[in-house]
This record gives sequence, C-alpha cells and structure tokens, in this order.
Amino acid sequence: MTHLPRYFGPFLLGGVLLSATDFAQGTPDSAPLSSQQVNALLDRLVGQMTLDEKIAMLHGATDPQTYGQAGYLPGVPRLGIPELRLTDGPAGVRTAQAATALPAPVALASTFSPELARHYGGVIATDGRARHQNVILAPMVNIVRVPEGGRDFETLGEDPFLASRIVAAEVAGIQAQGLVATVKHFAENNQETQRQSVSADVDERTLHEIELPGFEAAVGAGVGAVMAAYNKVNGTYASEHAQLETDILRTAWGFTGFVMSDWGGTHSGIPALTAGLDMEMPSGRNFGALAEAVTSGQLQEEAVNQAVRRILVSVERAGLLPASPHPIVGPVDDTAALEVATAGAVLLKNDRHALPLGGDDLESLVVIGPTAKTLLIGGGGSARVQPTHTESPLDALTRRAGPTAQIRYAVGYDVDGEPIPASALAPDVAPTGHGLRRTTAGLLETRVDPTIDFTGAGAIPAGTSATWTGILTAPSSGDYEIRLQTAGGRGSVQFDASAAVTGAPAGGRGRRGGGAGVGLLATALGLSNPSVSVPFTAGQSRSILVTGTAGAATPLQIRLAWIPPGWRDRKIVEAAEAARAAHTAVVFAYDESQEGRDRASLSLPGVQDALIEAVAAANPRTIVVLNNGAPVLMPWADHVAAILQMWYPGQDGAAATASLLLGEVSPGGKLPITFPRRAEDAPTADPARYPGVNGHGAYSEGILVGYRWYDAKGIAPLFPFGHGLSYTTFAYSNLSVHAGADGGLTVRVTVTNTGTRRGADVPQLYVGPPASAPVPMALRQLAGFQRVELDPGRSAQVTIPVGRRELSYWSTTEHGWVVVTGTRTIEVGASSRDLRLKTTTDIVSK
Ligand code: BGC
Repeated sequence: MTHLPRYFGPFLLGGVLLSATDFAQGTPDSAPLSSQQVNALLDRLVGQMTLDEKIAMLHGATDPQTYGQAGYLPGVPRLGIPELRLTDGPAGVRTAQAATALPAPVALASTFSPELARHYGGVIATDGRARHQNVILAPMVNIVRVPEGGRDFETLGEDPFLASRIVAAEVAGIQAQGLVATVKHFAENNQETQRQSVSADVDERTLHEIELPGFEAAVGAGVGAVMAAYNKVNGTYASEHAQLETDILRTAWGFTGFVMSDWGGTHSGIPALTAGLDMEMPSGRNFGALAEAVTSGQLQEEAVNQAVRRILVSVERAGLLPASPHPIVGPVDDTAALEVATAGAVLLKNDRHALPLGGDDLESLVVIGPTAKTLLIGGGGSARVQPTHTESPLDALTRRAGPTAQIRYAVGYDVDGEPIPASALAPDVAPTGHGLRRTTAGLLETRVDPTIDFTGAGAIPAGTSATWTGILTAPSSGDYEIRLQTAGGRGSVQFDASAAVTGAPAGGRGRRGGGAGVGLLATALGLSNPSVSVPFTAGQSRSILVTGTAGAATPLQIRLAWIPPGWRDRKIVEAAEAARAAHTAVVFAYDESQEGRDRASLSLPGVQDALIEAVAAANPRTIVVLNNGAPVLMPWADHVAAILQMWYPGQDGAAATASLLLGEVSPGGKLPITFPRRAEDAPTADPARYPGVNGHGAYSEGILVGYRWYDAKGIAPLFPFGHGLSYTTFAYSNLSVHAGADGGLTVRVTVTNTGTRRGADVPQLYVGPPASAPVPMALRQLAGFQRVELDPGRSAQVTIPVGRRELSYWSTTEHGWVVVTGTRTIEVGASSRDLRLKTTTDIVSK
C-alpha cells in the first residue's frame, strides 16, 4: 500500500529535501520514527506553517472532490501535510459510493468476540482507504442507558467491560490499515431526545465506572481521534468540557491525538479550544475566528500550535506524512459482514427444538413480513451505509432450502400498499372522470393518468419534472396511510394545499429527527417509502397535488400508494390463514432505530404485535425473526415457539439468517443489552432520568445501568444480559481461581459441548461484592468472557484473566480506582441470570 501525495513539488521535511519521486514510491514500510524524530518533524512543520494554515487545520471545509464523506480538511500541500477526509461510520463507510454494509455494531457486541471486532474494523478501514478516506468516524461506545435510544444499535451494549473489549479490538483493526479511528461521542451521548442541549447530570463514580471505560480502552488501543458529544455533561457542553477533554482524556489517560467536535456541536472558539477541543466540524463557524483572536492578542498562538500538533501526531502515526513510515498493512478478512451477522445472532427462545427448520417444516413453510422480502440492512442516520449488494432473506432461504422445499410468502404487515386506484381519483379539469391530470414542465398539453405508478420502463424520464392535480375522494371513513414511493429523483404530495409528505431516501440521514414518516425500509421494488396518515369520512374529497422531479441523469420512479382502513386487518387475516394451512410459520418483524430521534415506544411499530399473535394463534410452530436495533417488548413471547434475534444484519444478512434458520450454523450470540418485560421496568423509566426535565437528565440510577439495575431491584427481565441459546448445549465444570500476574486473578473453567452439533458458546464470568463493601455495589458485574467454538462431545479449558481494575470501584475521595478487598464471589454462567458455577476468593490489598 502506498499513500500517494497530491503535491508533486519538492518538500523540505525534517531537514531533508525530498523529491516527488520519493513520495510517489512512498516511504518504505519500516519501524516507526522514534519519538524524538517525530517531535522534531512536528516542531518543524508547525514552525513552517502560517497562522492561516494552522487555523485551516482546525476546522472543516468544503471538499473540492465529490466523494461525499462527512468531513474534510485541506491540509497544507506546500509542506506535504495531506488533505484529510473523515467518513462515517460505525457500520461501514458512508460516502457517495457503495461500501460493505456491516451488521449493526450491536450485532458485533453480541458476538462477544474481540477477534471479530478486529476484522470488522479492518473491513471499514480497507473500504475507507479505497474511497480516499483517512479518518473513520467510528467506533461509537456510548453505553446503552435508555432502551428507547435511537442510536442504541450503533453502539456496543450496556456493559462497560464488554464494550471496552470490543472497542479496543475494533480501533486496532481500523488503525492497522493506516487510517485514524475516532471513538465517539465523548461523553454521555446516551439519548437522542434533545441531544444538542440536554445535560447529562452524572456523578463522578457513575461517569468513571459506566460510561468512560470504553473510551479509556480505545485510548489504550491507541485511538487517534476522539469526537466530543453534542450534549452537556453536568451543565457544560462536552465540546468545551476541560475536565473531560483535558484532565481525564489527556492528563489521566495519556491521550496524545486530537479531539474533534460532533457536526455542529461546537459552541465557542476560545473556550472550546482551551478546554481541549482541537477541531471544529464540519465548518469553521467558531474556530474560523481564532486567527483574529491570535492577532488581536486574545489568544496565545501556542494554544493553536498545540491543537495543530495533536492533529499531526495522529496523521503521522497513520503514516500519512511523507516522511513517516507507512504501517505494514496485514490482510483483512473480508467475510466479516457475513461472519458477524451469523455470530452475532441471538437465539432468544427455542421450544421443543422448533429451530433449526427440518424436512417437515420445509415441506410446508410460510414466511411472513416485509423484512423477509426486503432485507433491513441497517439503522438510520450517519451509520447508514449504501450496500454493495443485497438479497432478500426469502430468496436466500428458498435458494438454500433446495428444490423440494415448499415456501409461500404472505406480507402480513404491509408497508407498500397499492397504487391509489383511479376510482378514488378525479382530474381537476374533468371532475367526473377518473385519475389525476399530469402537467409536464415545458409541455403545453396535459394528460390524465388513471394511477400514479411509474416504475421500471414506465419511469418519468431523466431531466424532466411533472405535477399531478385533482381530487381524492375516500370510499369509506377512517385514516388513510398515504405513501409516496420514489427513487431516482424527488417527489411531494399536498392535500388541500398543505404539504403532507415529501420523498426522501429510505433511512435517510434523519439527523434532526428525519422527515415525517420516513422509514428505514424500502418497498419491495427498492423505492423509498415515506408515509402520512390522512383522515377522511366516507365520500369526503380533498384536493391533491403531487410533484415529481427526475434526476439529471436518473429517471424518476414514482408510485402514489395508499393503505386504506381495513387493509391491514385483511393482510393479518390472510397471513394467519396461510399460517394455519402451513406446517410452520416464520414471521419477520422489525423496528426502525434512527439517529436523531429515540423510539417513541419499545413496542414493535404498527400492527406487528397483532400480526404475530394472530399467526401464533393459527400455528403453534411459529418462529419470529427480529430485525431491530435495541430491545423490543414481546407480549407474544410465550405464544411462539422460537425467537431469533438477527439485529440489523448488514448486507450479507439474508445469507446469515437463512443459514441459521436451516441449521447450517448454530447461533452463538449473546445479548449485550437487557430486554425488559415491560417499559416501566427499565432503569430510565422516570421522566427525571429520561428524557429529563428542563434540559437536565438526572443519572440518579447511578451505576445501576442495564442488568445491574434489574439485579438490584429483583426485576425479572424478558431476556437477560448475556442470554443466547444454541442448537447444541454446553456444560461448565472445574471452576478454579488462581492469583494472576498483575495482582488480579486467573480463572479457569472447562466448557463441554454436551449436545449433538458444533456450536459456539460464551462462558461469562461475573464478580460480586464482599459482605461489607466500602460503597454500594452491583450484585454482580461482568469481569471476563471467552467465546469458544466446540464440536459435539469436545471440551476446552478456558482461561479468563481478571484484572485489578475489574475488582475495583471508583473512589470519589481518592478520585481513582480502589480495589475492593474481602471475600468476593466468582460466578460463571451462560448469562447474567444463568449462573452455573460459583466460588469465592479473598482479595487482599496489594
Ligand atoms: C453524528 C456523528 C457523525 C457526524 C458526521 C453527527 O450528527 O452525531 O456520529 O459522525 O454527524 O456525520
């Protein structure tokens, strides 16, 4: 791999005159420069930069190229400082070009596999490099505190230890490819509601024990950049929080890279810079004025130099400066998308071996639900990736099940609807006729279209635009879901002259809450599918205006559809009838998690609960496949035979789902988030905690986040943290605890595959407090785990190291970690509520 510079004149670097040829060949991969050499190099570069060049390093600018990433810095070509391109994100590279759409990070966390996390990071980085990118705006490691959180799918679960292990490996995987990873959002970006302004009011111990360990682990793994959060922490914006950005990050943890703001999350110039923010993104609204602050004497130039230097430190380390050696790039396992989707799938329930599907099931199977037909690849917002390929789970299942399988499909929960029929439409010129009048821009004559359904060869030609006008008369009373489905251009619908819905890409950025009704799921034809609900009484008419504009080079596909009252009930009845006639039913259900807004409820959207209940009532062999980003309520859980949690499985999700359903592979993922039985059971089910009152979210649950809360309060979750079944079974034996090298422990346990298939398991180690602890502590907390893959009948001895840190609490008097001495419990189990082996060990102070 070589990084070709974009400037081909001679450079004076490190006192050596280098010619364009040196750069074109790239500096040979070799040992990193010594810290002395790096210091000398950076001193020289900073010394040679003008003030304007320095300030230009500190804020985003417009990229002259059209790669389409989130952020850009022009660099200083005359000194060989390269341009920097910063791209999202956590589930793959997000530019104008398609890239590997990886499973959602929550699926990665479910693998409990740092090894897979490293591969995952490697795929993001290789894709990034191939798309001219240098900085990856990932991983996100905010702790899942609020089950409704819109970005819960983008992060690594509710447990700090698990998140730390995964994030460190992912950072290493990204940076091994010569790109800079960015751990985000520092800190306490735990909700989307009022994310730009809410203050996370959190006490010192909770901050250190719950939210910060993931960030610290990323720093420990050498992460090059940190992104400050939008929100405030204890009343101060994270982007100008000196305690976070300087005292903790740099002084305590030794971070030497740079801190950037979130997009539009900088609120000041001098205060933010002096607190420790080095780079404003995506523009220079605040930092652009720093040059003047220096010239007028308000700001010491040294503060600017320091920020520039921190950026250059990471640039140098990534091998992006001509004089710095390029990292030796190892091979990347490009099957990570499929592997993580498969390994992260969690089998929540499997009564009477309903899964995997066998011969009887496949002789008469009905598959139900829109996400069986259209793969729900990822969540919405900046983690949305345009995939390089996709396949429907139904197709993958049909293909893999073989020619003798009899598989039928019923939509069950229809989100596509039907084109509004001509019988309900009348053109405004001839109100007794049927259809809408089309006017094409630039043409005098108009025509009447019976329906608006122009897809495939019938699409509206590139470079043209049209409007349709007329009257819509409702045949019966009720709410009509109107859906404007488009691709290749833009569209809008108005009723009675007020805007109702505009066409936006499915799962679009949704940054500030997304457009009304913009969903994640495209139609079966791949069109975006925003909707609006419009009430009508029988016979009521409303004027309607539809606009459609094709792209300059792309025809506009446009479909004006509706879902009239009664339609959904009919589809449920049809699905239940199909299920009754089949041997086995598989229902795909989904939620729509997006950046920019939290989920309004933990329930599955729309009528999906009713659909599952109806199908389960019609067929006891009902299996539910879930495509969601965070916990959902499952009032039907006891009525179905099996539940397979597939998360948002990325672009290879169809193959992963089919291979798991068919038993080609056994599920081995474990929940990284507790699934509550009822919304009110969650630790944040209190408006003072979430979404907060008067702009303040009180983190008064303290350290009792996730399973720590359910354990402390004695609440039985629907599915506990760490839970996940397999098609085989595992037994644990021979638990032993020994003194570890660093003053911690070494725990050994034997895992045996006692079933009949090969499978993966994750024995989990939890530590408990002594009888009298210095502070209130969690009943148990995760302190180690190890994913193992075993053939039937085979055993493995697993060694789990437990560091001193995992035996400590954060002392607010010492302002540091203090080991909790005394007799501590050590439990090993298959989940936080399925603890199979227990012992105690005496921890003494060092
Ligand atoms: C998100 C970040 C993202 C950035 C750039 C922000 O709105 O919060 O996570 O990296 O946009 O797209």
